[in-house]
Amino acid sequence: MPASIDVVFTPDLLPFSDLTGKTVVVTDILRATTTITFAMANGATAITPVLTPEDAFRLAADQPNTLIGGERGGMKVDGFDLGNSPREYTQAVVSDRKIVLTTTNGTRTLQACRAADRVLVGSFLNLRAIVDQLAQVEGELVLACSGRDGGFCTEDTAFAGACVEVLAGTQLTDAAETAKILYQTHRDDLLGMLRNCYHGRHVASIGLGEDLEFCAQMDLVDIVPRLVGGRIIT
Ligand code: MLT
Repeated sequence: MPASIDVVFTPDLLPFSDLTGKTVVVTDILRATTTITFAMANGATAITPVLTPEDAFRLAADQPNTLIGGERGGMKVDGFDLGNSPREYTQAVVSDRKIVLTTTNGTRTLQACRAADRVLVGSFLNLRAIVDQLAQVEGELVLACSGRDGGFCTEDTAFAGACVEVLAGTQLTDAAETAKILYQTHRDDLLGMLRNCYHGRHVASIGLGEDLEFCAQMDLVDIVPRLVGGRIIT
């Protein structure tokens, strides 16, 4: 069991946490880490998170067989193969393919956590698999929420709270306690939470409301993607 659990509500707060030697779970329920989880479960060989579309084009140009995915404003970037809807990342599309991904908040959080000992990628899709691994962690655990444009997001914090709840009996920061309470408030209606939260309303407003149902699915896959040397693998 982890010695302690902290929750960092936005990547803007990460510089105040020393991640050295710690295990970090990065989450962006809507939608980057849900997309990454589903793509890796469907056989993508590696996903490289990058900060900008320019970086994505540059990196993919050097790597044959690579798809470019991600979003700005929630929509696919011109010239990309895929957007950031997890439903696009089917086995037929991503199996045996490398992917370069850039999203507004999620890939930024992944980049910001590279100093950690271990970086795992979490979503409701792989909640059980994540907490099974976290139960084996002996050091300090940080749950890093991607938020939205530096701000707080209900859905990411609720996911963090779901992890906290399962890992009962561990020393919790106030942020971790708060995340747990938030999850308990929404646990019986995760889809309702995603439909009501700020970013969920944005995703629905651009015609991608079906993504909310997709991202609310619990334990769809049993893999735990991890960031190693700048690439996400399983
Ligand atoms: C992000 O990284 O900001 C999100 O995944 C945005 C989205 O595509 O919904």
